[in-house]
Amino acid sequence: MDKLVVQGGRTLRGEIEVSGAKNSALPALAACLLTSETVHLAGIPDVRDLITMRQLLEHTGATIKPVNGHLEVTTPSIVNPEAPYELVKTMRASSLILGPLVARCGTARVSMPGGCAIGARPIDLHLMGLERLGATIRQEHGYIEASAPQGLRGGRIYFDTITVTGTEDLMMAAVLADGESILENAAREPEVVDLADLLTKMGAEIEGAGTSVIRIRGVKSLRGATHRIIPDRIEAGTYAIAAAITGGDLVISNCRPDHLGALIHKLWQAGVHIQEVGRDSIRATATGAFRSQDMSTEEYPGFPTDLQAQYMALMTQVEGITIIRETIFENRYMHVQELVRMGANIRIDGREAIVAGSRKLTGAPVIASDLRASASLLLAAMAASGETVIDRVYHLDRGYERIEEKLAGVGALVERVS
Ligand code: EPU
Repeated sequence: MDKLVVQGGRTLRGEIEVSGAKNSALPALAACLLTSETVHLAGIPDVRDLITMRQLLEHTGATIKPVNGHLEVTTPSIVNPEAPYELVKTMRASSLILGPLVARCGTARVSMPGGCAIGARPIDLHLMGLERLGATIRQEHGYIEASAPQGLRGGRIYFDTITVTGTEDLMMAAVLADGESILENAAREPEVVDLADLLTKMGAEIEGAGTSVIRIRGVKSLRGATHRIIPDRIEAGTYAIAAAITGGDLVISNCRPDHLGALIHKLWQAGVHIQEVGRDSIRATATGAFRSQDMSTEEYPGFPTDLQAQYMALMTQVEGITIIRETIFENRYMHVQELVRMGANIRIDGREAIVAGSRKLTGAPVIASDLRASASLLLAAMAASGETVIDRVYHLDRGYERIEEKLAGVGALVERVS
């Protein structure tokens, strides 16, 4: 199992490039199951979750060819409409193939996802939505079976809780349904909009993606398309915080400043200088005088839960008390105990973390527990004095492409050891 060995105290300077968004690439690959024609996808990051998604697609009958940095995905027919437990247990986003499979071939069998480090994370809303579109759902032997032998029909779906992959899954189910579907209280994340853009290129009729009401008029079939995945806003945000926490100055290229509003605002309030450089770069510069800033995670366009752990690492370094409130997942504080082992002063009270800042962090052996917790520990390690060894780096590899190489390119001392 790989570990990262980090020597702290280095200031990051230079330019660092962001990869394609993992959470956009996952539904984009799932969308390829909706057509027998070839879909060309650019900007798919080379990270563990995408490798799992590719395996899942191949299991169902897709052929995937890497050509000049793009992926060519062709699914002449679905031979195996199934997501087996072995793949689902390593990646919950596997449930994203449920909608496309039922839409394309009238049946799907997907292993139920188990618990997960950041919370219970049920998929009841995906199933409710499929039922509203006319599918019959059965749950047996740890699997969910959805069937609509006569095809799905349009319907009105209201989400009690805003769900990102639930919105994506049902959008993909509805594009081939008979008639109009309306998704209400839908997720507004840029990744939902990116998926709608791809589906539209494939011939789908979708209006309102990026707002809380999405209207979809079903079509008979979809065609092939060419699409580039949007840049990863969480990776970009992680690097902006890396610049701040190391007292550095980074130009973060290939990013979408318009997707980073809440983070840029929060960092600006905290005293980090953020400047837009052209249309696709930002420059994050530490000014030296940080202020504590309370933060609450929210659905987009609010502050992303996927940057909460990283933001917390930064707040351990500022004057004063910061209250961080996690509203999306009930248990997304697995990084706290590890940060405390490095010298941070953080107390959990229900959904709130109370961070007493200005603590000197010192390197220590720590264990990564999930993807974003790992990023938080890496940031803390770069700010700490001495050596930190981060164990279970496979969590980081699920979502960050070549992160240690990119950070080393701007001055970090990070090494991967087996
Ligand atoms: N929820 C339900 N029922 C459902 C679906 C969701 O109760 O059927 C609840 C969840 O338990 C949670 C809330 O709704 O409390 C929001 O969950 P959501 O469904 O939006 O999360 P997700 O779609 O499973 C995606 C990202 C996550 C990100 C969340 C929130 C992908 C592949 N994953 O997950 O990304 O944290 O949205 O923004 O898009 C990550 O990249 O590290 C990551 C965890």
